[in-house]
Amino acid sequence: MEDLNNKRKGEVWAIGGAKGGTGKSFLTSSMGTYLALKEKRVVLIDVDIGGANLHSFLGIKRPKKSLTNFFEKKTPLNKLLVRTSIGNMSLITGDIHSLSSDNIKFTQKLKLFRHIMKLNTDYALIDLGGGSHKNTIDAFLMADKTIAILEPEITAVENLYHFVKNALFRKVRMALRAHGFKEMLEHVWNRREKYRIKNLKELIDWLKGSFSYIEEILDEELSDFSLYIVLNKVRTTQDIAMGASLKSVIMKYLGIKTKYVGYIEYDDSIWRSLRNGRPYMQNYASTPCAKEIETIAENLLEEKEIKILKG
Ligand SMILES: Nc1ncnc2c1ncn2[C@@H]1O[C@H](COP(=O)(O)OP(=O)(O)OP(=O)(O)O)[C@@H](O)[C@H]1O
Ligand SMILES: [Mg+2]
Repeated sequence: MEDLNNKRKGEVWAIGGAKGGTGKSFLTSSMGTYLALKEKRVVLIDVDIGGANLHSFLGIKRPKKSLTNFFEKKTPLNKLLVRTSIGNMSLITGDIHSLSSDNIKFTQKLKLFRHIMKLNTDYALIDLGGGSHKNTIDAFLMADKTIAILEPEITAVENLYHFVKNALFRKVRMALRAHGFKEMLEHVWNRREKYRIKNLKELIDWLKGSFSYIEEILDEELSDFSLYIVLNKVRTTQDIAMGASLKSVIMKYLGIKTKYVGYIEYDDSIWRSLRNGRPYMQNYASTPCAKEIETIAENLLEEKEIKILKG
């Protein structure tokens, strides 16, 4: 695979989640605004499946140019940038034809990410949309920071678990395939009862314990697999504490370290700001919600997490 670090400019953050309506676009636009107001150059990229609406959170009209121009007419990304009301923040919008389609080949996706990485910006924030779609997972795996936002409900936790599991399996499979061991992974997984393997973590441990060369490959590939978690629309301290349960479930069954970077409380002024076409972080800067978003962005910048309360 070609070197993606070649001429790399800014840092790429991907914001996703296993479900729709959890606040991905709100978080992407709000963190982008916060970073831009801190004098960082920011590009927001909307690749939401079927419903690109990031522009609405910025109070601007749906741009005419979209990623379809990139895929179909080879328009360079910097020609698709649309200005927002904040000086050093611009937007590239997707649409139903862009990443949502299974017709987008892996090579095209790689090309898109290579171009995103070369954008002349400090931060490229990608609003991924929901679901465990293969394209969403690939985008997740290619970003520098992957942020999952979810609501504190038990179904959301299950969805996230499955999303991370799919992403991890895809990563392991791609790594082993690149070294010619794809069949081995499938062979062992299909006979997992015989090998007394109950989950993906045990599969990975089994492979690593059986073959030292596979251990080396997986250690290398998985060392940078991390996930940042944000809980949205929280109402109680129990809701906030759910971040801790999530961390331990993902560690126990998948062996993946996560950082709980923060939560955002439920706030009715968010839909009001959306309806009035006024970016939230500019117009509600002193609300608890805005402060919580600042904390999340700062934690992401510094790779820190919030203290976990026992629920
Ligand atoms: N903390 C919050 N409190 C109250 N409402 C919120 C909060 N966060 C988001 N919302 C509202 O929830 C709705 C969904 O938010 P948003 O569009 O950001 O989610 P999404 O994950 O991008 O959804 P989709 O999957 O449809 O793209 C919006 O109407 C938004 O105003
Ligand atoms: Mg959205």
